[in-house]
Amino acid sequence: MLVLGVESSCDETGIALYDTEHGLLAHALYSQVEMHAEYGGVVPELASRDHIRRVLPLTKTTLDNAGKTLHDINAIAYTQGPGLSGALLVGTSFAESLAFGLKIPTIGVHHLEGHLLAPLLEDNPPAFPFVALLVSGGHTQLMRVDDIGQYALLGDTLDDAAGEAFDKTAKLLGLGYPGGPALSKLAQHGKPRFKLPRPLLNSGDLNFSFSGLKTSVLTLVNQHQPLDKQTQADIAYEFQEAVTEVLTKKCMSALRDTGLDNLIVSGGVGANAKLREKLNAATKRKLCKVSYPRLEFCTDNGAMIAFAGAMRLKAMQHSEERNYSFSVKPRWNLSELQAP
Ligand code: KG4
Ligand code: ZN
Repeated sequence: MLVLGVESSCDETGIALYDTEHGLLAHALYSQVEMHAEYGGVVPELASRDHIRRVLPLTKTTLDNAGKTLHDINAIAYTQGPGLSGALLVGTSFAESLAFGLKIPTIGVHHLEGHLLAPLLEDNPPAFPFVALLVSGGHTQLMRVDDIGQYALLGDTLDDAAGEAFDKTAKLLGLGYPGGPALSKLAQHGKPRFKLPRPLLNSGDLNFSFSGLKTSVLTLVNQHQPLDKQTQADIAYEFQEAVTEVLTKKCMSALRDTGLDNLIVSGGVGANAKLREKLNAATKRKLCKVSYPRLEFCTDNGAMIAFAGAMRLKAMQHSEERNYSFSVKPRWNLSELQAP
């Protein structure tokens, strides 16, 4: 079965072709990051309009690169939510109308399920069950994953998500948008000079809290005005140490509590090299395995949506009657998902 994947939930248009027998055939991505950079964050209306411009050329490129035509596609998977409603509507209406024309089924995919399953696109994927750390711009969650659609929440953030904390801290340090990659690049030149708190490190549960850390960074920034390059790098270094230490410790606690020995990490912050270094060392010490998506599939992409959709379509017993109506779900809790 050849599945076309369409992602348009935020500021990246992603298209991919996933074949349930031969794996990922091709994928293409257009990031709007430069367009939003001058505003310091995503402008929803500009995002929607740009998705409209990109979705058709990207689909054509993906089909050409895979040596396929529209008529080879057996089903279309698209991000139905959560995300920006206008942006979601572009991908959703494109996918639904194309499927209507081709008379093929569609499946609305939960964006976070896409992230969650992205590591399974790699060679030697981990088998179920496993613990998943989902660290993106909007989420920081630890989950026990028993199968597709069987996700038990083990821990969550009480305030800011890890990616959001990276972005806000980067802003305080005067770095551009998106802040995560810029901050981690700067941290490479930093030295251990400051000490920031490790929020909820020993709370005894698997929850996170990152907003206090941002306030501590603000205090440091105010104390060291005007900020010189080295101080900026030293603060970035310590901030990254604090976040990655807490994430690593909680992942190890989740493995211990569940008795599982496989960890997968997904979402934008999963691209962070310091986090990977710490998780690799900690899991090795406990004889556990950790898996990540390739770097380009940590952030938003069409491949993870094509894959998650394909897994669900494969597991579905019979196709439902089509009524040709569609909707998006800008707010959609992962816990509402059920096994296919
Ligand atoms: O998963 P994603 O593309 O979007 C959401 O669905 O939220 O994640 C984007 C987030 C942003 O907050 C970005 O700053 C962060 O991931 N990020 C990073 C890195 N690369 C992306 N954070 C820390 N280190 C990185 N290397
Ligand atoms: Zn995402």
